[in-house]
Amino acid sequence: MSRAGWRVEVAGDAAAVARRGAELLIDLARTKPGAHVALSGGSTPKAMYEVLRGASPEDMEALRQLHYHFGDERSVPNDHEESNVRLARDGFLGPLAIPEAHIHAPNGGATSLEDEADRLTRNLFKLMPSQAGRPVFDLIFLGMGTDGHTASLFPETKALRNRIPGFAANEVPQLATWRLTLTYPVLDTARRVAILATGANKAFVLGKIFQRFDDEDAVYPIEHLAGRDVLWLVDQDAARKIPGKETP
Ligand code: 6PG
Repeated sequence: MSRAGWRVEVAGDAAAVARRGAELLIDLARTKPGAHVALSGGSTPKAMYEVLRGASPEDMEALRQLHYHFGDERSVPNDHEESNVRLARDGFLGPLAIPEAHIHAPNGGATSLEDEADRLTRNLFKLMPSQAGRPVFDLIFLGMGTDGHTASLFPETKALRNRIPGFAANEVPQLATWRLTLTYPVLDTARRVAILATGANKAFVLGKIFQRFDDEDAVYPIEHLAGRDVLWLVDQDAARKIPGKETP
């Protein structure tokens, strides 16, 4: 059963989820200098980045020792307002003066996203330890879309079937775009995955997902995460349809 590693923490609100996410990152920074982390995109991480900007000087120094990668990136240049890399640079990588050598940014503006995916994949194997031919992240942050996608593994897209560990260029017809995304074999090999999902608009999908006992009848991409430690950090609004987690 691939959900054996799943755990759910329900926090009061989105701000509490952001604090919990920041805590996971800071704890890793304090205990494992040089660890490799993948950041997620979308809007949810903004609140976590704001918490990180308020870290203590000692914790900021520890955060500078981590290596920052990205779980996915849109097909836009890194200075584009839609870029997940720009979101993180503006959010905390810049304000905390994280060394450039510790930022491993996908170039969504590359002329060939396939070549960029290959470059990123080579870089993963060069930079971090691997297990059974898969690079091992210490911590991967993910979000969840209202269609149950995660990273840029969108419903009915080719990357869902990609079992090659690394990055893939994934065509997303429903958005009329291409994305760069980590593939499931890398997500499932991470020592820990933390999924931050907040807001009432995530409640329906979370309710469906947690009504199932395993992924035999899974329909959403995020349901196929099968890592050893998958920690869902959700707020009460998002959790209200999760069996046993409903709030009065
Ligand atoms: C992206 C993200 C994506 C995101 C979800 C949730 O590039 O959009 O990587 O997977 O995490 O879409 O987005 P929100 O945080 O905006 O709800």
